[in-house]
Amino acid sequence: MKSSTDCKNDTLAINGGKPVRTSMLPYGRQWIDEDDIAAVVEVLRGDWLTTGPAVERFEKTLSELTGAKYAVSVSNGTAALHAMMHALGVGEGDFVLVPTMTFAATANAVRFCGGTPIFVDVDADSLLIDLADVEAKLARAIDVDKSVKAIVAVDFAGQPCDYDALRTLAERHHVALLADGCHALGATYGDRSVGSIAKMTAFSFHPVKHITAGEGGAVTTNDESLATAMRQFRNHCMNRDHHHRKSQATWEYDIERLGFNYRLTDLQAALAASQMSKLRSWLDRRNEIARAYDAAFEAIAGVAPLKNLANRTHAYHLYVIRIDSTATGIDRERAFQALRAEGIGVNVHYRPVHQLALYANDAAGGAVDCPRAESVYAQMLSLPIFPKMTDDDVAHVIAACQKVFVKR
Ligand SMILES: Cc1ncc(COP(=O)(O)O)c(C=O)c1O
Repeated sequence: MKSSTDCKNDTLAINGGKPVRTSMLPYGRQWIDEDDIAAVVEVLRGDWLTTGPAVERFEKTLSELTGAKYAVSVSNGTAALHAMMHALGVGEGDFVLVPTMTFAATANAVRFCGGTPIFVDVDADSLLIDLADVEAKLARAIDVDKSVKAIVAVDFAGQPCDYDALRTLAERHHVALLADGCHALGATYGDRSVGSIAKMTAFSFHPVKHITAGEGGAVTTNDESLATAMRQFRNHCMNRDHHHRKSQATWEYDIERLGFNYRLTDLQAALAASQMSKLRSWLDRRNEIARAYDAAFEAIAGVAPLKNLANRTHAYHLYVIRIDSTATGIDRERAFQALRAEGIGVNVHYRPVHQLALYANDAAGGAVDCPRAESVYAQMLSLPIFPKMTDDDVAHVIAACQKVFVKR
């Protein structure tokens, strides 16, 4: 990769200096090539636009990639989480442990089903769910006879959680281990892929994710009855979809529970399947960019990447840094504005979910104790990372960080 010093200049753009770049580099974006376009056009020329053969092919590809027996596609990652909670039977009066450092959809899915999330703190260095806090909050909930249904492992930024320890905890307390793998398509834990470790794992195919369907999502599982429940849920909870009705020469179906139209279309599935053929090289590129950032931050006092844990591979949906404002002389708010002024589209992932008004004003959830997530939130920034970034783009990010964070 090119040296970052190519683009060095001294005065910060926010103070009137020349920016490192003139166009804004986003923190994430899709990469669509001619093969992707041809795959979608082929569907447009065929008979099926909505859920048909391309969806079946994509689901097969996803189950092969993850090693899970079943993959059930849906219209987005939020729908995947909703389908997962529904299939598990989460309902009124049930509780689910959710790390507070995640996108709101992880917790909202519990609420969609009438349940209540119990927010769990995260480890300050990796931002993965904190095992001691899981243990303490599970024990406390069970002590007062709360019906706890599940723990959700969120593979924050693309790094798998400690699934072995979480499974042990879940089994000991007779609750299910679910996963929000929306950041972690293609990541591995030991010799297993995310998607085949928890009872069910949700994925998202939004444009900033590893592969895109425009919008799209899926749940993987080894449990046939859960897969069937989710296939019905995405299709109004009809007990027979159009394929069954056709093969059985009947128009009849029944609906016993409320379902949704969460179907993925063949157009979206064809795009996702075409993207999937590039996933491995894209994950390599994400890791290569992360290594370049790691090396740069070794030389910048007061800026630290998240900790990488042993025995797993990282999918780097996000590259998150923590800023020590005393060592750098700049706090997160100012650093956000300063980097944006340099043309670097930094972002913040995430405000702890328990602090969002929806949950902060909700008495039913009770008082929430997640001090580490709250203090790390004040220090976090996500840097651009996506496979189509050029070496020059990477050098611009590093040069801008050197300008903004190196104390003069
Ligand atoms: C951790 C996590 N879960 C769930 C979702 C929801 O996915 P979607 O945007 O496809 O609904 C996202 C999306 O950003 C996410 O990052």
